[in-house]
Amino acid sequence: MSVAFTWLGHSAFQLEVDGHIALIDPFLTGNPLAAAKAEDLNPEVILVSHAHGDHVGDTVEIAKRSGATVVCNFEMGNWFMKQGVENVFQGNPGGTYHGSFLSAKWLIAHHSSSFPDGTYGGQPNGFLIQVRGKKLYFAGDTALFLDMKLLAEENIDVAFLPIGDTFTMGPEDSLRAIDFIRPHHVVPMHYNTFPPIVQNTAQWAKDVHAQTLATPIVLDPGGKHILE
Ligand code: NI
Ligand code: MN
Repeated sequence: MSVAFTWLGHSAFQLEVDGHIALIDPFLTGNPLAAAKAEDLNPEVILVSHAHGDHVGDTVEIAKRSGATVVCNFEMGNWFMKQGVENVFQGNPGGTYHGSFLSAKWLIAHHSSSFPDGTYGGQPNGFLIQVRGKKLYFAGDTALFLDMKLLAEENIDVAFLPIGDTFTMGPEDSLRAIDFIRPHHVVPMHYNTFPPIVQNTAQWAKDVHAQTLATPIVLDPGGKHILE
């Protein structure tokens, strides 16, 4: 039994659980940091946090080809079905998707959400993912918010937090988020893809070590981490 995650660049991750694969926000085509090609991925589940193009990414193509279940909010689910995606599971904050090898609870995120074609994408989300006894918090695109303190009660193994600034929280607010959430490990995301979100992750990791109780895991695109 093992749980591994691979950073595919930006906020895209692949989770591998005993041979099962899930993707989160699979933005690969047009992603300068993409560490995989959409056509090579065969997930069973795709979690999508919100409707912006750098998160929906290749979801439609991958879902149609693989038959993966797209897990997203109500408004996004309606849009995906219009695009011909057959398996969609829609929820909203407070609700939980119970899949065969992972569960994902919709959480709030403070951001915006519309599809590249202008369609309203509902409220943006984070996810609390439970898989083989591990708890992962995927924040999505969000600012720092006080309710993150509720997650300290969850004993989070890994928090995936945006650090790019401009469109989401930046490095300094991510340190405050870590203090709120108290995860064992923290993985930065949503940085270096484009000029407005370039960050110094070496300095960020130093600051995480010095100022929080969490251990940073900084991956290169394509880098994989196996949870013990
Ligand atoms: Ni966004
Ligand atoms: Mn984004």
